[in-house]
This record gives sequence, C-alpha cells and structure tokens, in this order.
Amino acid sequence: MSDADTLARLIRTRAGDAPVTLGLILGSGLGHIAQQVEGVAIPYADLPGFPHVGVSGHNPNLHVGTLEGVRVAVFGAREHYYESGNPRAMLLPLQVLKALGADSLILTNAAGSMRPDIPPGNVMLLSDHINYSGLNPLIGEKTDARFVPMTDAHDPALRAALKAAAKAEGIELPEGVYCWYSGPSFETPAEIRMLKLLGGDAVGMSTVPEVILARFLGLRVAAISTITNMAAGMSDEKISHEHTKAMAPLGAAKLERILREFLRSRK
Ligand code: HPA
Repeated sequence: MSDADTLARLIRTRAGDAPVTLGLILGSGLGHIAQQVEGVAIPYADLPGFPHVGVSGHNPNLHVGTLEGVRVAVFGAREHYYESGNPRAMLLPLQVLKALGADSLILTNAAGSMRPDIPPGNVMLLSDHINYSGLNPLIGEKTDARFVPMTDAHDPALRAALKAAAKAEGIELPEGVYCWYSGPSFETPAEIRMLKLLGGDAVGMSTVPEVILARFLGLRVAAISTITNMAAGMSDEKISHEHTKAMAPLGAAKLERILREFLRSRK
C-alpha cells in the first residue's frame, strides 16, 4: 500500500468513509475558510510526510467534511518552495487527496498585481501561468507520465463554473496569467517590468508547482489569486508579508462567496 493510501485510510477513520469530491488549498491569510467546513480538522503533524509549514498566517490542518453540502478536503496551508527548496513538497498531500476520491482541485493564493485595473482587494482567476522559477516538481519522476501536457492546465470547465459563480454573486472575476517567482524575497521593480513584458498579470510564490503535480495526478485544476498589493514599483505602498496578511481578508471575503456559490452549483 502506498504512503498516500495509508494516510487516506487514517483520514477516513477520523473523517468518515464518504468520498471527497473536491480539494481546496488555501493561501496566505485565507486559512479561516477552512474553519467553516463541517467535519474534522486533522493537524498536518498527525499525517506523516505532510509538510511542516512554517509560514505565519497559514493554518496547517487538513479539514475534511462538507461545505455547502459538498464533501471537500481543505488544506489550510501549503509548503512553499522557499521554505526548504523542495518543489515536490505538496506531492503527498495531493496524492492523498486523490486517494480520498477527489477529481478536482481549487488552489488559492495571495498575489501582487501587475495590472492597474486589478488593484488590491480584488480576486483574479488564473487563465494560465508562467513558471518563471524554471523549477519543476516532476524532475526525477521515472515514467513517461512525467511529460504532462500543460495546455488547458487551468481547466476550462472549472474556470467557467467559477466565473458563473462570481457573476451570480455580483463579483468581478477577471482572468489573468500568474507568474511563479520562487521567493522568499519579493521581486524588484525591474523584475516586475520584465514579467509584465512577458505577459504576466499577477505574481506570487506558490500554486504553479501544485498545478503541475495535480495535472500529473490527473486532477482537474483551477486557481484564484487574492490581490494583496500592486507588484514592486507599481505603487508607493511598501510590500511586506505583514501587508500581505493584513490585505488578504479583503479579497478573502469575495473568494469565499465565489467558492460557496461554486460548491452550491456542483451539488
Ligand atoms: N510578490 C510575490 N508574492 C506575493 C506578492 C508579491 O507582490 N504579494 C503577495 N504575494
């Protein structure tokens, strides 16, 4: 039995046998959404091999239960590449998600905007991404399954459903291209000018490795950024992790309404 199957079994003994249909990974300052899942919260520390998440503003628990009547597994925190230099850190959690029965994954993150028309407090749906880090979590995989196509990696049907949910809630949900920058230092203004030239709309330190891993596992994926700041050099505000945490709740309220409506529409 694989490690993921063993962990899925352990999780079922605590959360019940009903299969999970959807996974959700929460980004900086968004962890509270997990508290609303009706079910159990299992600390990552109880799940051998799960990441040791050391970023403040994150909630290192796996919440399994129902949200808007849909059986979900919500990851209250992720391990970022910049924590230990491991782009595969979220592989086991995603394998467990799959073993619990999920076929889809919604990722969320906090990001800096490179688009003046998408200021802080807004949410942005990822139409696509640029893996600017040059890292790949599938390096070292041995089978041909590693050659994962990334066309439509951000699933058109899931994106349409999220857009419809936003519309039903009266929330604007522009689409844009997310650039993964490894962090943990923020970008320089010159780097942001470059990323804009390359076609980026938002920049952040997560999500892309998980999209690649999830596609590798055959999960359908969509991702939403909450915009916490204008990217470096685009406004006078100081960029900091404190600021990210302070600003995340603005977009989080919108994100939560979109996710709830999206789940209601899936019932
Ligand atoms: N850059 C990278 N990551 C981020 C930012 C940013 O401006 N804001 C929130 N996460």
